[in-house]
Amino acid sequence: MIQVLNVSKTYHHGQQEIYALNDISLKIEKSDFLSIMGPSGSGKSTLLNLIGGLDQPSNGQIFIDGQPIHGISDDQLTLIRRKRVGFIFQFFNLLPILNAVENVSLPLLLDGVPFSRIREKAIHLLESVGLGSRTEHRPEQLSGGEMQRVAIARALITDPAVILADEPTGNLDSHISEEILGLLKNLNQTGQTIVLVTHDSKAASFGKRIIRLKDGSITEDISLSESRA
Ligand SMILES: Nc1ncnc2c1ncn2[C@@H]1O[C@H](COP(=O)(O)OP(=O)(O)O)[C@@H](O)[C@H]1O
Ligand SMILES: [Mg+2]
Repeated sequence: MIQVLNVSKTYHHGQQEIYALNDISLKIEKSDFLSIMGPSGSGKSTLLNLIGGLDQPSNGQIFIDGQPIHGISDDQLTLIRRKRVGFIFQFFNLLPILNAVENVSLPLLLDGVPFSRIREKAIHLLESVGLGSRTEHRPEQLSGGEMQRVAIARALITDPAVILADEPTGNLDSHISEEILGLLKNLNQTGQTIVLVTHDSKAASFGKRIIRLKDGSITEDISLSESRA
């Protein structure tokens, strides 16, 4: 479970103070699929990055499974980020010199686990996202949809408490987007907690719950009925 308690984030821009998030509180239950919507600049990425430990709140507290991720050292934060959270980004963020199975393995390689011990799991994950025949391909040899599948497999390699996806279909056409969102939905149905940032209401409807942000505040929080496709 993820708890965000009275979190604010202020950026200083010259003399100006920008309130990216304004006293946000939010509870995300295990196995939830939360979509975060809102116009550009409303604080969606800021909120996701704080939950994922990419950045620290100016005020307030954030807990992942009871473990605080505010006010801790950079080293501790790096460990949590690597082990407890799986990120998926709009532009995939794969390393161009690594092939698919190496990219998927990277989070564990960075932790010093030998490749020989990860390889099988990485291949299995690539198979689970439909890329069993692309394990040796480098990113430049893959389509956008395939690159995002590699990124999903990479996000899963550490068995994270939560998958955080920031506009993961923002760079894909609608047919491929639906495939990627369907993959995330399948993962959620196996119990994986997912937080999806999107400005596309169709993409958001793949979630079980939608919150809307405006000017750094939550303006709406709705549960989607189970009967929805
Ligand atoms: N590193 C930063 N420095 C200064 N301002 C920032 C920074 N990151 C985000 N902001 C500002 O915070 C607000 C929220 O940004 P962001 O969370 O990226 O919005 P969204 O993802 O909803 O488009 C915006 O006004 C943005 O300009
Ligand atoms: Mg954003």
